[in-house]
Amino acid sequence: MIQIKGVSKQFQNENAINYADITFEDGKSYMLLGASGCGKSTLLNMIAGILSPESGEIFINGEDVTKKTQKEKDKFRIQKIGYIFQDFKLIPEMTVMDNINILRLEGVDTKGSDEILKKLEMLDKKNKKVKHLSGGEKQRVAIARAIVKMPEIILADEPTGNLNFEIGEAVIKQLLEISAGKTLIAVTHDERLGKYFDYTIDMNEMTGGRENA
Ligand SMILES: Nc1ncnc2c1ncn2[C@@H]1O[C@H](COP(=O)(O)OP(=O)(O)OP(=O)(O)O)[C@@H](O)[C@H]1O
Ligand SMILES: [Mg+2]
Repeated sequence: MIQIKGVSKQFQNENAINYADITFEDGKSYMLLGASGCGKSTLLNMIAGILSPESGEIFINGEDVTKKTQKEKDKFRIQKIGYIFQDFKLIPEMTVMDNINILRLEGVDTKGSDEILKKLEMLDKKNKKVKHLSGGEKQRVAIARAIVKMPEIILADEPTGNLNFEIGEAVIKQLLEISAGKTLIAVTHDERLGKYFDYTIDMNEMTGGRENA
């Protein structure tokens, strides 16, 4: 369970972002909606321990991650969190496989990668350089890389941002299938994708979410 309590974030020369209290339950999928700049990526970065809030607490399985040292946060992220970044953070000159296998440097076991690439219909592209892939294919490599360590928590920032609706919908369905039983928090601008998630949280309203029918 991930609990956001009284969290605010202040960047230099910016207004503080005050977050409503939110609880993300284990094994559920959440879609985060909200206007550009409202603080969605910042929230994911705080959960992942990449950024720290100015005030408040972020409990993951009862432990306040904001109290950890940066080294502890990094270790926790590497072991427990799969993060699909808004800009992918793939290495264009390297192949699909090498982009995944690079995680071995952090001690991640990547032997499940073929199976995951197969589920994402990317196995036949595994020896291609990322720079030669389409947007949707890059997206699926980023998903495969995030999921290969079998994380408890998956954070996905605009996983369909650059895709047309049909391909975006297909990628979301694959992401949900592959993250079944894990806690998934996905940011998206497209409300039409909300029906696939257990919960939708509108960060504009900051009311903490409503249950999908
Ligand atoms: N490193 C930073 N330094 C200064 N300001 C930042 C930094 N990161 C984010 N911000 C500011 O914080 C606010 C929230 O940014 P964030 O990236 O979380 O928005 P977002 O909801 O993810 O938007 P989008 O939908 O466009 O991705 C924005 O006003 C942004 O300019
Ligand atoms: Mg963002």
